[in-house]
Amino acid sequence: MKIRKLTEENRAKVYALLRRAFPRSTYEADLVEAFHKNATPIHEWVCIHTNKVIAYIAFSHAYHGNEICGLHLAPMAVAPEFQKQGVGSELLKFALRQAAIKSQPLFVLGEPRFYKRFGFEPCSTPICPFDKNNAHFLSLHDTTAEKFMIGYEAEFKTTGKPSKAGGKKRR
Ligand SMILES: CC(C)(COP(=O)(O)OP(=O)(O)OC[C@H]1O[C@@H](n2cnc3c(N)ncnc32)[C@H](O)[C@@H]1OP(=O)(O)O)[C@@H](O)C(=O)NCCC(=O)NCCS
Repeated sequence: MKIRKLTEENRAKVYALLRRAFPRSTYEADLVEAFHKNATPIHEWVCIHTNKVIAYIAFSHAYHGNEICGLHLAPMAVAPEFQKQGVGSELLKFALRQAAIKSQPLFVLGEPRFYKRFGFEPCSTPICPFDKNNAHFLSLHDTTAEKFMIGYEAEFKTTGKPSKAGGKKRR
């Protein structure tokens, strides 16, 4: 298994992987497709096994007001037939070692039991707009004590909704 930056030729394979890994939702695939379409700056890697894309991870900017304050980890997925074999852990550990990622406060809305294994801790601030009481919101390397609502790239809000005129806005 190799871990590589996502190339343009593998983008469609990633959308297909996300649709399979999240069978009840097209949100994740549509979100990543929107990032690519809008050329939104993200960090993303894939696991390649026998020429197939079997896992994907992405990080996009997190905002405090208009300032970038770290990165959101989302989405992350492993192809169903490769889940629970250590692939997701290997990809996440790899990403956390990369210079662009390890130097930043990181945030994730996800299953605490999974992300705690990698050093993420539940946080009461910043506040995640998509999670009641931050019950599934975790951070790593974040030292802020100030209470504020964290911002996401506009695609998190516009995905799955009709596009609006007026360009990109952060939520
Ligand atoms: C969540 C996901 C990325 C984990 O990747 P993976 O390759 O299956 O995970 P690993 O094999 O590296 O698992 C490591 C450990 O975490 C556990 N784990 C995996 N998913 C978990 C979950 N959702 N909740 C709690 N524990 C989980 C595994 O049981 C394993 O435990 P073990 O070492 O005691 O056996 C993958 O299962 C997946 O794509 N799921 C569907 C999409 C999804 O939910 N994405 C994450 C959004 S937060």
